[in-house]
Order: sequence, then structure tokens, then C-alpha cells
Amino acid sequence: MNELAIELRDIHKVFVTDSNRVEALAQISLQIAQGEFVSMIGPSGCGKTSLMRIVGDLETPTKGMVRVLGKIPEAARRERLVGFVFQQPSLLAWRTVEENVRLPAEVFGDAEILSRVSEMIDIVGLAGFEHAYPRELSGGMQSRVAIARVLTFRPSVLLMDEPFGALDEMTREKMQIELLRIWQATGAAVLFITHSISEALLLSDRVVVMSARPGRIAEDLKVNFPHPRENTLRADPQFVAMETHLREQLEG
Ligand SMILES: Nc1ncnc2c1ncn2[C@@H]1O[C@H](COP(=O)(O)OP(=O)(O)OP(=O)(O)O)[C@@H](O)[C@H]1O
Ligand SMILES: [Mg+2]
Repeated sequence: MNELAIELRDIHKVFVTDSNRVEALAQISLQIAQGEFVSMIGPSGCGKTSLMRIVGDLETPTKGMVRVLGKIPEAARRERLVGFVFQQPSLLAWRTVEENVRLPAEVFGDAEILSRVSEMIDIVGLAGFEHAYPRELSGGMQSRVAIARVLTFRPSVLLMDEPFGALDEMTREKMQIELLRIWQATGAAVLFITHSISEALLLSDRVVVMSARPGRIAEDLKVNFPHPRENTLRADPQFVAMETHLREQLEG
């Protein structure tokens, strides 16, 4: 199995509405290996979410080729190889933590997924909160519920669109370290969208920088810091230098 987790070749996306024609993505080619963690940063409206939706089969490209573990996105989705985590954790208010995490198992009617519910609640550090309702949880805890929920069906590819965007700085830093731990435990490939350069650097094997609309790949930067990574890495001179470089790229 040396299939790529995600392969994009020359992706273009044009949105046509009654009043408008928006060229969102142009000439996007990108390869993400299995188990690799890749972050994507770029100005608002450059097409990051659109690209992720194309990978997840929620949108189709105007032109170009997409493969997820060697399959077309529709097949990958059908086989539940891909999991999504959005900026808003989208939990059901009337369901407890456990009942929210059980949702995919119920939707798919799958006993094996069901059998992983408590393990995944444990992995994200929510043991003891199984019977709490979303309103009784902090923002970070709500994000963890969404992550636990997606992990129950063991996606090989995890698509995360600014999952920590709504969190305060302290919680966010904790969640980043948590996510690294979870990522290493699951071995999933991750495509992670963020507006935070330091978040991208701390988490990733590679940081992909997109240019303003139509989004193109302006840079694909390798990040070689060893694991496990800690928050103290942010003070490392090489980290700071890369951060400065990426900021200049984004502004330039
Ligand atoms: N369904 C749609 N119909 C029409 N236009 C769309 C649609 N989805 C996205 N667009 C347009 O495509 C462009 C890229 O949007 P997208 O949401 O992918 O950007 P983004 O990089 O995720 O931005 P942000 O950082 O603000 O989340 C925008 O100009 C947006 O208006
Ligand atoms: Mg977006």
C-alpha cells in the first residue's frame, strides 16, 4: 500500500452564480502521503475550504484530477475513508457527549464503529464527561467531542477546516498538542486549514501557502522538527525564522 492519501492534479474551480463568476482555484497540484500532516494557510477567500470540500466530495472541481487513497472522492466518501472537522463543532445540543460521539455509528448502523465510542472519548481526554451536554462543556471540550466523533470510524484521511478557530489562545495551544498526540495514535493523514502560522508550523510536516484568489500554491515548506513536539518549540530560533518567512510570504 504505497498509495498517496491525497493526490490533486491541476485542480481548477470556478463558481458561477446568477450574478457572479468567481475563479476560486487555479492549477492546484498537491500530494499528501499516508500519515502525513499538511497545513494550508492563505488569505481569506483564496479557496482553502473549497479545495477541502473537493477532496471530501462535497464539491466537484471544474477541471483536474482528485484521488483519495487512489479512489475518486465519491468512492472514498462511500467507504468512509475521509473524516471532516469544521470550525464549529456542530454538536447536537439535545444529545450528551456520548450520544454525539455515537452519531456516525447510528447513522451507518455499524457495531464496530459503536464499539470504539468510549475508546475515542478516552483518547480525546473526555472520560468522565460522557453524560454532559454540549452547553455544559468549554469550547475546547466541544472541539474534542467533534474530533472523537470523527475518529470513531477510523478515517485514513482527516480534513480539518480551522477546527480551533473559535478557541481562546491557551485552549488552542493545548488542543494543538492534543491533536498531535491523537494524530500519532491514529496514523491518519491530515489536511489542516488554519489562519495561524505558528499553529501550522507546530503541527505539520509541511505547510502549503496559497496565494490570493484564484488560489494557487505559492510555497510548499517542509517542517522537520522532531516529534513529540511541545509548545516550547515556538521559541526555537529556527521556528521563529520559519514563522517570519511564512508571514512575509503571506504578505507578499
Ligand atoms: N458555493 C459557492 N458558490 C459561489 N461562490 C463560492 C462558493 N463557495 C465558495 N465560493 C467563493 O469561492 C472563493 C473561495 O472561497 P473559500 O470558502 O474556499 O475560501 P477560504 O480560503 O476558505 O476563505 P476563508 O479563509 O475566509 O475561510 C470565495 O470568493 C467564495 O466567495
Ligand atoms: Mg474557509
